Amino acid sequence: PSLKDVYANDFKIGSALLVSEIADPSGPDAQLLEKHFNMLTAGNELKWDATEPKEGQFDFTRADKIVKFALDHGMDFRGHTLAWHSQTPDWVFHDNKGNLVSKEVLLQRLKKHIDTVMGRYKGKIGTWDVVNEVIDPAGPNGLRNSLWYQIAGEEFIEKAFIYAHEADPNAKLFINDYNTEEPAKRDALYALIKRLQAKGIPIDGVGHQMHISTSYPSTAAVDAMFSKFADLGIQQEVTELDMSVYSNDTDSWQTFPEDQQIRQAYRYRDMMNVFLKHRDQITAVIFWGKDDGNTWLTTFPTVRNNWPLLFDAQLQAKYAYWALVDPS
Ligand code: XIL
Repeated sequence: PSLKDVYANDFKIGSALLVSEIADPSGPDAQLLEKHFNMLTAGNELKWDATEPKEGQFDFTRADKIVKFALDHGMDFRGHTLAWHSQTPDWVFHDNKGNLVSKEVLLQRLKKHIDTVMGRYKGKIGTWDVVNEVIDPAGPNGLRNSLWYQIAGEEFIEKAFIYAHEADPNAKLFINDYNTEEPAKRDALYALIKRLQAKGIPIDGVGHQMHISTSYPSTAAVDAMFSKFADLGIQQEVTELDMSVYSNDTDSWQTFPEDQQIRQAYRYRDMMNVFLKHRDQITAVIFWGKDDGNTWLTTFPTVRNNWPLLFDAQLQAKYAYWALVDPS
């Protein structure tokens, strides 16, 4: 069965991919994507370092291929991401003497970037992660003390949404973050969205990355998270779902024991049941990749095998997949 068909009445089912996965647009990787997903997102190709590596020098070669593949197959697209502290070239924050630029210069660069990137895909990319990972419950006012914040304060977030809305008034604009079920982080994110809404900033949704593991977080915490954000009246999406088999940064297995495979399958099903409970707010569930051969967790947080996705490296369905197409 096709995942997207199983959940057709609930939400879109998506996957992140790398341009290498569609090098052969009718190969096995492409076929698997077509069969199971009705939304795609780019793992790296729409990040600032990919699209504007040097000021004013835009490169859309790889992003174009991915977006075209999605559109050719009638799939929706999530743009990831416009303003982030990571995978952003140094020049964005500095002048040619190496000093931090003024707020005015930074916001001007942000506007140019958003106009150009969103403008190119206007009407093609329906949803954008406008800002990514801006929350730090221990940071100033609950925000990450990034160069963005140091130069422009909370205003960079407000302006990013305003510029994005101007660039494509029909696009759905999201704020995206990880560990959003963790109470302090969840509440800081919630408070920020409230402040943005009070100022009339155009924000349509909150993205929960959900890079989870077989032992963390609890389904109760995830359930409470969706309930908490529900009263903001915005969309919610699970934007980067994968499930590490490890509960720490140091373990490293050579093989994936069958009891652990089964445990992972149960956990995927339990999480999906929480998503289904909140399906009135949840518009999409996107996996951060489709198969264990193409996962960022092979190198993060350390080099080791991981088996976090629904298909194995040979693109064969895992127990986790069966747990999701055969819901109880
Ligand atoms: C990851 C990519 O998957 C990797 O290929 C890259 O090396 C680092 O970034 N949160 C995010 C994503 O918002 O953009 C990150 O993607 C994973 C964590």
